[in-house]
Formats: sequence, C-alpha cells, structure tokens
Amino acid sequence: MEMHFKIFRFDPETDREPYYRDYVVATEPRERILDCLNRIKWEQDGTLGYRMSCAHGVCGSDGMRINGVCGLACQKLVKDYQGSEILLEPLPHFRILKDLVVDMEEFLDRVKAMQPYLLASTPPPERERLQGPEERRKVEDVIRCILCGSCTGACPAMDENPEYVGPAALVWAYRYLFDSRDGQYTERLKAADHPNAVWSCKNYFECTRVCPKGIPVTKSINLMKREINKVFGEKGPSS
Ligand code: FES
Repeated sequence: MEMHFKIFRFDPETDREPYYRDYVVATEPRERILDCLNRIKWEQDGTLGYRMSCAHGVCGSDGMRINGVCGLACQKLVKDYQGSEILLEPLPHFRILKDLVVDMEEFLDRVKAMQPYLLASTPPPERERLQGPEERRKVEDVIRCILCGSCTGACPAMDENPEYVGPAALVWAYRYLFDSRDGQYTERLKAADHPNAVWSCKNYFECTRVCPKGIPVTKSINLMKREINKVFGEKGPSS
C-alpha cells in the first residue's frame, strides 16, 4: 500500500520560512510511522531531520505531532491512518532546531528544577533503601515517564502561560514528592505550590490523552494540588 505524508520542514540556517513537503511511501499496514520516516530519509530525502533511537517506545526521542496529536512515531501504526494523508509536525511549545527535531534544553531544565532524584534525610543504609509494595504503588504510574515531551507539546495551558513548568516536570515532582525514601517532602511540596507549577494546570487532560506510557498525568497534578491544600491550607494559587 501507498501512504501519503506531508512533513513540516524548516532549517533555520537556510530557510526563511517553514514549509511542508509531500512524500509517498510504499508500506505495510503493520509498519510504524517511524518505519516510513526511515524509508523517506534513506531512500528519498536524506536532508529530512528527526530523532530516533530505540524504535520501541523506550527512549522517548521521536516525539512529534502526528495528524495534530502528539505522540511517538515508533508507537503509531500505519493502518490506523489508512485513507488519510499523514501530517507530521514538530512538538508544539518547543523551539525548532530542524524539521521535526526540537530543542529539549528548556524542557529538561524545567524537569531538573524539580530535583528529579532522591534526596534522603537519613544516612545511607548498609544495603539499598527499602520500599514496600504499598509505598511503591504510590509512584508506580509516574516512574514510567520517558521524557518524550508529548504531554508538554499537547498542553493548552502552555499557550496560556509560557512560564508554566509543564506536565512532564510535574510528573517528576510527583514522583519524588510521594517517594517514601525521600526526605524533602515539604520543600518539594513548596516547589509544586507555585503559579507556574501545579496552579497553571487547568485540567485540559490533553497530557493524559497523549502520554505514550499511559501515565495519569492530570490526576497526578490534581493529587499534588490536594496535598498542597491539605498541608498548607485551602488558599488557591500561591504567589
Ligand atoms: S525511538 Fe525511542 S521511543 Fe520512539
């Protein structure tokens, strides 16, 4: 079968404006969008820019917008787009480096600002820090985040407040806030309690809809809002 692709192209070094280029690819229904991109690059147009690594939904590097919906090209099957042209664009809310390749720097800086690592308040034990199944269950969903940026790309609240840290950063905030081995609970809760953090989320649920790992992103953000109100009092967005 033949699939028709329309792909966003822009090289800031040579192009004055972005444009779209059409490609036709011979493919099979069970192949993925990423397979088609590879075929385009290897057989038709070596100048096309996109990221990929694992090709199996693990590394998170091929986040892009596919027919208006953010997701991973390696997880989308051609058969689900049969009968329509496939439009590929870079993730919204990210600076474009070239074609489908976006700058992840600011996104990762916002995640890093949430201190996405264990900050224990007790000396290291002789062996590992233990965590029971019940405690582990609290963070089980969010540890699946692969930092692909699909949630942040899809989130309408990013348009309303460009300073919003974004859903991915909040997933990582949640991950350590509720980790039984961490010792920075109050500090982490304070960091989440900011107009540019949990209070910028307006429950659009787009992040949850597009997350390739099925993380209940919006629910996690709402649980942090509830925790903030419980601990600091019902006060709405802090300043
Ligand atoms: S290429 Fe690694 S997640 Fe798609």
